[in-house]
Amino acid sequence: MLRAISTLIIYVLFINTALADDQLKQRAQKSKEVVMEFMNSLKGELETAIKAGGPANAINVCHKQAPAIAKTLSDKYGWDIGRTSLKTRNPDNTPDEWEIKILNDFEARKTKGEDVKPMAYFAAVDNNGKKAFRFMKAIPTGEVCLKCHGTDIDPTIKAKLHELYPGDMATGFKLGDIRGAFTISQPM
Ligand code: HEC
Repeated sequence: MLRAISTLIIYVLFINTALADDQLKQRAQKSKEVVMEFMNSLKGELETAIKAGGPANAINVCHKQAPAIAKTLSDKYGWDIGRTSLKTRNPDNTPDEWEIKILNDFEARKTKGEDVKPMAYFAAVDNNGKKAFRFMKAIPTGEVCLKCHGTDIDPTIKAKLHELYPGDMATGFKLGDIRGAFTISQPM
């Protein structure tokens, strides 16, 4: 009898953990899809603007459209959606303590040889007493990014960036570096 009860308890615990795990995985999957949505709309706008008037023209896309897309998606899903980095350009994107830890973990994972492109992390966390699901997805530095985040930036672009972001830390990146991450927080 005792054995049957303990088996049952273990079984119930197991099912509960499996269900909770499943729920987290579902949230992570949905987060990944929303990140893709963010990435695709930004990339589309960036490429169109570069084609139309070069990278100097595209600064406005990143300056105005990136925060606008983040806001639209945040409103659409009722989540906090944004971009962050260990070296930010816009101080509004400064990472919080949890994000700094995950960004540092991403760097360590990259050093160990992990591919940056699919790199992500999620967890259920306590956000000042409120339970939240948090998700981060690493953003690799591609060729086109170097025009505004690289080591050899055109002086016109440099001047415009400096004017808009006097405290800019987001330069000096090399191809393949982790530029930052998409970050999502959902209430649970
Ligand atoms: C035309 C210039 C330009 C190009 C090209 C560009 N960026 Fe940016 N990037 C910016 C600007 C301007 C900001 C600040 C946006 C803001 O105010 O939120 C920014 C911000 C970011 C941020 C948010 C964190 C921060 O530093 O504030 C990330 C992440 C980022 N860029 C990644 C990329 C990646 C990856 C690429 C290549 C696919 C790229 N950028 C290409 C100009 C550019």
